[in-house]
Amino acid sequence: MGQKIGIGLLGLGTVGSGVANILMNSEGRHPLVSELELVSIAVRDLERPRKVEVPSSITTTNPQVVIDNPAVQIVVEVMGGIEPARTLIMKAISAGKSVVTANKAVIARHGKEIAAAANSAGVYVLIEAAVGGGIPIIEPLKQSLGGNQIQKVTGIINGTTNYILTKMAKEGMRYEQVLKEAQALGYAESDPAADVDGLDAADKIAILSGLAFGGSIERSDIPIQGISDIDNRDVGYASQLGYEVKLLAVAERVLKDNRIKTTLPIAAWVQPTLVPNEHPLAGVHGVNNAILVEGDPIGEVMFYGPGAGAGPTASAVVADILNIAGINKLGSSPRALDPLLAASSWRECQLVDPHAIVKRNYVRFKAQDSPGVIGKIGTIFGNHGVSIESIIQFDTSKTGAEIVVITHTVNQGKIKNSLEEIQALSEIKAVSAHMGCL
Ligand code: NAP
Ligand code: HSE
Repeated sequence: MGQKIGIGLLGLGTVGSGVANILMNSEGRHPLVSELELVSIAVRDLERPRKVEVPSSITTTNPQVVIDNPAVQIVVEVMGGIEPARTLIMKAISAGKSVVTANKAVIARHGKEIAAAANSAGVYVLIEAAVGGGIPIIEPLKQSLGGNQIQKVTGIINGTTNYILTKMAKEGMRYEQVLKEAQALGYAESDPAADVDGLDAADKIAILSGLAFGGSIERSDIPIQGISDIDNRDVGYASQLGYEVKLLAVAERVLKDNRIKTTLPIAAWVQPTLVPNEHPLAGVHGVNNAILVEGDPIGEVMFYGPGAGAGPTASAVVADILNIAGINKLGSSPRALDPLLAASSWRECQLVDPHAIVKRNYVRFKAQDSPGVIGKIGTIFGNHGVSIESIIQFDTSKTGAEIVVITHTVNQGKIKNSLEEIQALSEIKAVSAHMGCL
């Protein structure tokens, strides 16, 4: 065995501890793991109890010490947040060190700048853990599926919300209760609003969209609806109608032919969505994630597995470290092997106006149980060119009725205009829920 490959960790929380645990227990793993040595670790609080025992001599509260350590060849950023993480990644690149990061928030916003810097410095920035936890999806999109024209990427890509929705559907639990469990299990972001408000899923679909369509989209323009307003009633009605409610993140090319000359229009969104029971994404439960990729000529391919947590995420991080270590051992040029993250070869992509997004819808109205109300709803939808697939009245009581509508595929501008007009009817007490429907 030659000289060890020095690894510097920025962060020793859920993911960092998982990574340290693998690096310090190399026995039985690929022989290259035993050539990796954890040489420096930055944390915020040296006194905090850790899930893994590391020598105190290698810990510091100054991340710059990790980057500057001459023994550190690969910097692993698992601290989270935008800053100082972004600056530290850029500093590591400037210092000629390859970086592995699980930080989708930074990559979704600054990926292009980081890729360009890495490309000119001749180092790697690998991000397998940033999407789908332990599921290999980044490298397959960059390499194995590279010859396809990707049409659509549909993902359950937030473990916390899928865990919450599963518990709501199977055990009737309320989302606030289950969120606490997800936090204790290490699935949730430090600010769990990132999970329940759909922001984390939006970061991830922005990254997947970039790789699938070969050009970045503006993360801040993605329409996002989280799960914090979901009522157990909708989960129940969905179940009675033969659906599971899932937080889906979708990116699709709008022009399906080859007329694209310069800018490729992309429709992307994050929304709780009714998924038919027989659809492969309906069977994805708990912390598991799945990403369904539709492309030509491959057809449909689905990637499935644990989407969060120390072990699965560390598995993806260490795979990236091994990739870099292996390539560096061979003395290959990183640039030649990482073409799809190289900003220089990307095309222009542009998000379409959210009102132009075309999909099916689930809407629940709280209404008076009076004659003609269903007819009025149907007429307004019809006047706006919205075709109804089904309309059902649930739970009629003295206080009113719940009317659930599932529409055919329609653009979201027409839905918005219809709902504004329906809401103004005297018989309608509220538009209580609006979700997507596959
Ligand atoms: P975490 O448990 O909160 O750990 C963050 C670590 O970073 C802690 O050890 C913290 O130190 C350290 N840290 C934060 N700011 C620092 C600073 N300014 N200087 C030095 N150290 C600092 O977070 P996590 O769940 O491991 O997530 C880390 C990253 O992985 C995030 O980008 C997250 O989105 C991503 N990720 C997480 C998962 C998951 O399942 N958790 C899965 C995929 C990706 P202290 O411990 O001293 O506070
Ligand atoms: N908070 C994220 C999730 C971690 O729940 O999916 C994995 O990226």
